[in-house]
Amino acid sequence: MPSGIDETALRAAAEALAGARSVVALTGAGVSAESGIPTFRDAMTGLWAKFDAQRLATPDAFERDPALVSRWYDERRMRCARCVPNAGHSALASIERVITARGRSFTLLTQNVDRLHLRAGSERVIELHGSLFAWRCTVTGTKRDDLPMPLPNYPLQSEAGGIYRPGVVWFGEELPAGAVRRAARAVESCDLFLSIGTSGVVYPAAGFIESAAGVGARIIEINPEPTPLSHLATWRFAAPSGELLPHLFESASFT
Ligand code: OAD
Repeated sequence: MPSGIDETALRAAAEALAGARSVVALTGAGVSAESGIPTFRDAMTGLWAKFDAQRLATPDAFERDPALVSRWYDERRMRCARCVPNAGHSALASIERVITARGRSFTLLTQNVDRLHLRAGSERVIELHGSLFAWRCTVTGTKRDDLPMPLPNYPLQSEAGGIYRPGVVWFGEELPAGAVRRAARAVESCDLFLSIGTSGVVYPAAGFIESAAGVGARIIEINPEPTPLSHLATWRFAAPSGELLPHLFESASFT
């Protein structure tokens, strides 16, 4: 058990998880931190502390310098490919298996583009911000997730005469409409919501935490640091998700 965790609260949260009819989990970069993938807003190691998002993560940036942007995303893709899911990803996959085996609903909304949830065995995953492993032709919109690693050149020309752009959502872009619709539907009917490893400051993803509170779901927040939405949490655990989630899963007696 991570130090400083209130065991009574953990048991109560685990009981709520075990008894829930419909569970939604929202994850952010923190869930992958223990796999060695940097978060975005950590003051020292966060990606946006080291790199300028306006030069790398906007449609304008790609238009200005597609080679630079493609290379930066390709390097992130290679780094993620070398990382492996941690105990937090595995615990979420186990929670999904147990809940769905009992005919209840489980949906995992992730802001992460690293595919680690899928590699850990989670199946009901909605990638709200796309994926580093999917590239999209700028002319046809065709998605490719089989492009060589690294790309042979930057930017990579597509067969249709365009170039391949990273299949992620950039600042100033809409999230994929289908993903948002499915996520909103799941949140509307959930009775338990887990907010894990996200700073809760990027919308519309963070809005799902507020919507869950609005429909009366109980909320479990797992994050070593408080967030602007911590006040909505029924239970808040200030611990790394790779340590806390396995304990939460083990403490839940699913019937
Ligand atoms: P952030 O970097 O904003 O927040 C990461 C959160 O994870 C912070 O609140 C940390 O305290 C927490 N954290 C760090 N280590 C943790 C651990 N071991 N276990 C649990 N929590 C931990 O990342 P996101 O909230 O994912 O969007 O950021 C949201 C979006 O902003 C990203 O998807 C990305 C970024 O700009 C796009 O690129 C479109």
